[in-house]
Amino acid sequence: MTTTLRTDLPTLAEIARRMTHAGRGILAADESIKTMSSRLEQEGIASSPTARRDYRELLITAEGLSDWVSGVIWSDETFGQDLSDGRPFPQAARELGILPGIKVDTGTSKLPGGGGALITEGLDGLGDRLASYAERGAAFAKWRAVFDVATITPYSARANGHALARYAALCQQHGIVPIVEPEVLCTGDHDLGASAQASSLALRSAFDELVQAGVDLAGIVLKPNFVTPGLDAAPATAGTVAAATFGVLSDLVPADVAGIAFLSGGQPTADVCESLRELHRLGERPWPVTFSFGRALVSEALHTWGGDVRNVPSAQQVLVHNCRQAAQAIR
Ligand code: 13P
Repeated sequence: MTTTLRTDLPTLAEIARRMTHAGRGILAADESIKTMSSRLEQEGIASSPTARRDYRELLITAEGLSDWVSGVIWSDETFGQDLSDGRPFPQAARELGILPGIKVDTGTSKLPGGGGALITEGLDGLGDRLASYAERGAAFAKWRAVFDVATITPYSARANGHALARYAALCQQHGIVPIVEPEVLCTGDHDLGASAQASSLALRSAFDELVQAGVDLAGIVLKPNFVTPGLDAAPATAGTVAAATFGVLSDLVPADVAGIAFLSGGQPTADVCESLRELHRLGERPWPVTFSFGRALVSEALHTWGGDVRNVPSAQQVLVHNCRQAAQAIR
């Protein structure tokens, strides 16, 4: 029997391009059940699978979302749920012109011997999970390594870089674009230089490992933090943040990486949009820059909704407004 190679499927590079080009970004709505439950409860909403489903349905069905958003990331729970009209979330996203993505790491634990640093878990059984997500329509995946400026070491950067590389290589084997996220947290009172140093260490280790694992860099999306002073330190201007971020990225991110989509790190929407705008304005870059914000896009919408179906249209308007603000920063 002869097998025919399917030539109608987009390549990893084409998917990654679609995620990051053309002035659209990626909505991160992949909070774990625990995190989502605590965010709902902070708004006085009892957490349940249905409440979490209703909230994610509100996000994905917001009219006009696909004008500004190319993809959305969900956690396993949402990925397996149906909208109230019975369509599975991944199918609904594709019908709305939005690529469905799945967070596949399983969270962090203390890295043994890491002096307080964290290691991201989730490699066991990952191949089987990716096969199932691919079959259910996942276009891309996400894995988040998390570093604190106070505890990052060459060893913790290397260990997390290695896990990111193994995850990314496995994703590509399953036809899924990996979002590679080495996040340096902005909590703390460190200065801009400390953030630059920690971000450089995290990125250098991640790319060393990605290259050694033979990952096709044209088929990944990098999701970094902005290089900023800690939230408890004196703030820097958006221009300073953009210049520092660009300095670190241009030293360490190879030109063939498909695109860069920033996380917001819990910073205010206006601040991260302004940093993105300044970075975009800096001119010649080998890779496109866009956003993959979570809280900066959704926090206000969640608050506006408050669990009341009558507030769905206004919550959706707030969400789309924030997505438009972020997308306009890169157009
Ligand atoms: P924030 O933009 O809220 O930091 O979330 C982005 C994200 O996906 C973190 O993993």
